[in-house]
Amino acid sequence: MLSKRPTLKTDSTRSSRYRAGSFLLGFLAALMSISFTMCGSPGSGNTETDSLQTKTDQPKERKIPADAWQAPDTATIPTGEQGEMIRYGKELLAHTSKYFGPKGTIGKISNGMNCQNCHLDAGGKLFGNNYASFISSYPKVSNRSGKLTVPSVRIAECFERSLAGKVPDTTGKEVQAMLAYMKWMGTGIKKGQKLFGNASEKLPYMDHAADPEQGKAVYISKCKVCHGNNGEGIQLADKSGYTYPPLWGDHSYNDGAGMYRISNLAGFVKNNMPFGATYLNPQLSDEEAWNVAAFINSQPRPHRDQQHDWANLDVKPIDAPFGPYADGYSEEQHKFGPFQPIVDAKRKKS
Ligand code: HEC
Ligand code: HEC
Repeated sequence: MLSKRPTLKTDSTRSSRYRAGSFLLGFLAALMSISFTMCGSPGSGNTETDSLQTKTDQPKERKIPADAWQAPDTATIPTGEQGEMIRYGKELLAHTSKYFGPKGTIGKISNGMNCQNCHLDAGGKLFGNNYASFISSYPKVSNRSGKLTVPSVRIAECFERSLAGKVPDTTGKEVQAMLAYMKWMGTGIKKGQKLFGNASEKLPYMDHAADPEQGKAVYISKCKVCHGNNGEGIQLADKSGYTYPPLWGDHSYNDGAGMYRISNLAGFVKNNMPFGATYLNPQLSDEEAWNVAAFINSQPRPHRDQQHDWANLDVKPIDAPFGPYADGYSEEQHKFGPFQPIVDAKRKKS
């Protein structure tokens, strides 16, 4: 059986809410732009940020190469047992909470989010954390753990961090089905092949730190309508999961998750949010994306002990939010930037 809801975009409740939302947002945005011109941007108190904004947000042409990866057509899923596994894997990734959430029918081991909340269109979207090159690039030595990691372990990591939950049985039918689907998604992709849009977009660094205060204003005008006053999202009526997933709080990803690095979050948001945005049709400036990411990742969320992460500090990402680091820059600067000085210092050292 194919899923009856191919993508969330066709969800009528959501799109009508979105339309209502956009109307409200348009109104709010109009109001806010008036107040901005009158009293400057919130929390900055200077005019410098405005000139920086134009500088960092010079529109560069966004184009998708003709040979860019596209998710294979579900009509090409084979019949028989293998095809069943692929379809089951897709279902689990799209509706993870139904099976593994707080009311999960298979196990109650995660926070109520779906893998698809961040791996959009069941991992089929450009710049939406797609699965195109996942299987072909594993097993590989993880920079974070320093260990050789097989695909099932990488899946388990997203359960533990992004779904702030527990490791599922990696030999069980469910994880195997997810792997079957991910392998099918990567059909024809070779190890080491460079793919356009297979991870979050790396937004250019700003020459100043991302500002949670300004991000809060972005959140209020462009995100709150779906993700809630307190980032708590909107649950399904039977509370088996979310229509709009939480961005912070007890039921969101923990601080060991990939999204807790603001470069990942900003790149994701720029290309995918508000829901419906794409690489070719982004809704936020780079600066808005960095700031809203800084705001979201300043809010409370579950903590994960990360003492054993990043054994090798030389490969630790510059925006890893917790020390120790291989350099003398503060945790604050590693979390919010400015990042360029850190990059330059690292380059000089090596
Ligand atoms: C129209 C409703 C809507 C608006 C507005 C919206 N989102 Fe989302 N957002 C969604 C939906 C729906 C998903 C889950 C997508 C899926 O499962 O396919 C999502 C997922 C996310 C995720 C990944 C999952 C999670 O919970 O962490 C992030 C991060 C996110 N949104 C951030 C934002 C930000 C920042 C804004 C404002 C700039 C925003 N969203 C505006 C509907 C919305
Ligand atoms: C809150 C957002 C979020 C959710 C929910 C989430 N992931 Fe992820 N996942 C990410 C991000 C961001 C990355 C890439 C950055 C990184 O490696 O940390 C990633 C990376 C991965 C990768 C590695 C991809 C590659 O090409 O190396 C796999 C596989 C994966 N996730 C599977 C899952 C599965 C399975 C689930 C559900 C059980 C899930 N993720 C839920 C955010 C999320």
